[in-house]
Amino acid sequence: MTSQKPARQELNVSAIRNGTVIDHIQNEATFKVAEILRLEQTGQMVLVGMHLPSGQVGRKGIVKIEGRALTPEEVNKIALIAPDATLNIIKDYRVAEKRKVELPSRVEGIVRCFNPQCITNREAVTTSFEVMSKGPVSLRCGYCERTMSGPDIILL
Ligand code: CTP
Ligand code: ZN
Repeated sequence: MTSQKPARQELNVSAIRNGTVIDHIQNEATFKVAEILRLEQTGQMVLVGMHLPSGQVGRKGIVKIEGRALTPEEVNKIALIAPDATLNIIKDYRVAEKRKVELPSRVEGIVRCFNPQCITNREAVTTSFEVMSKGPVSLRCGYCERTMSGPDIILL
């Protein structure tokens, strides 16, 4: 007695109406983006795609969030872990704005210093790093001058 539905062949991450689409995320960084944005806490619709075919380089991740704009701090965090990501602002189903994320020359209060002796790890001091290189990202602490890259870069 089971009625069989015809198999659906399309397999897309559907469009959103109003909100933000973060596209061209370096595949492995997809869930980090979800973590940065604390997407488990939003009450709105969130769509996450991973291992999606990408024109230029292999596979990409994509994160779509209905009804939300990102703060500059969130954009800076995303730029640190997914420097090639594109931000699309969606209004009434249309792409109203599109831009690449970009790291500023200095990042404040979003990364922990890797040096346990650094004053920023011992006292209530806001961290501050000079961006020495954007690809691969390399940061220098404004307090202890420790240089960090790759897995040493831990977001606060
Ligand atoms: N998008 C969406 N909902 C909409 C409109 C667009 O989720 N109502 C998504 C698309 O799926 C795409 C991104 O927003 O992932 C950007 O849309 P668009 O500029 O139309 O796509 P592309 O031309 O492929 O973008 P790009 O040139 O940046 O690769
Ligand atoms: Zn330091």
